[in-house]
Amino acid sequence: MARIIVVTSGKGGVGKTTSSAAIATGLAQRGKKTVVIDFDIGLRNLDLIMGCERRVVYDFVNVIQGDATLNQALIKDKRTDNLYILPASQTRDKDALTKEGVAKVLEDLNEMGYDFVVCDSPAGIESGALMALYFADEAIITTNPEVSSVRDSDRILGILASKSRRAENGEDPIREHLLVTRYNPGRVTRGDMLSVEDVVEILRIPLVGVIPESPSVLRASNQGEPVILDTESDAGVAYSDTIDRLLGEEKPFRFLTEEKKGLLKRLFGG
Ligand SMILES: Nc1ncnc2c1ncn2[C@@H]1O[C@H](COP(=O)(O)OP(=O)(O)O)[C@@H](O)[C@H]1O
Ligand SMILES: [Mg+2]
Repeated sequence: MARIIVVTSGKGGVGKTTSSAAIATGLAQRGKKTVVIDFDIGLRNLDLIMGCERRVVYDFVNVIQGDATLNQALIKDKRTDNLYILPASQTRDKDALTKEGVAKVLEDLNEMGYDFVVCDSPAGIESGALMALYFADEAIITTNPEVSSVRDSDRILGILASKSRRAENGEDPIREHLLVTRYNPGRVTRGDMLSVEDVVEILRIPLVGVIPESPSVLRASNQGEPVILDTESDAGVAYSDTIDRLLGEEKPFRFLTEEKKGLLKRLFGG
């Protein structure tokens, strides 16, 4: 069975799409047949971050409305084997996704032998976000270390536990993973940001990764290349550790403390 993972948060701009792209790529790199689906109808960010925006002909809504087959709409990633993207449409109709339609797509992906389906959720707690999480087996709760983001994540935890298919059917609950993104240890030390411990203490779900705030993320997204492919970058390495943990490995957390700059770095920057 395909593992259906929703990347969600409630709040916008916290790093869901960045994380969806990185996580899907990392799973595929480890030999897992993976598809990443953009549920953010109308925005279409994922295909930009994956660098496949010019190849989009058909999209998720076309498939659901029967204007294209799933096979026609899936875009094979140009860099990473085993990786496919199902782009969102630019339609303004946010209700273009139906539960029946999404269920059918997920069943078909399962039959096509996918190991992982990564669902990039839109912000908010309205229909698009609900649709992205409804069928999930697991959720990656993407949270920035600040009070408003943690609050919205707490809200999403309530929704996962009450409005998902698993909740409706009385099945095992969605497995929750906390992903702290845009972490800046210096700002934590100065008291401008919550620490990872604070966030875990409030949300009380298992931590799967801590991604540092890093200029490499913007650089990667400008190049249309998931940051996990940048093996020199702290954020890329942190995403890679996150994948290993998702696949059951124990890994120590890195980048939790401020890097002490040596004399040369202090003098010359870097
Ligand atoms: N670890 C990070 N370091 C620096 N910038 C980041 C990081 N993660 C995300 N960003 C930036 O934050 C913005 C929002 O990210 P995005 O993934 O689109 O969030 P969402 O999908 O939750 O709205 C983007 O400009 C992205 O480049
Ligand atoms: Mg997004």
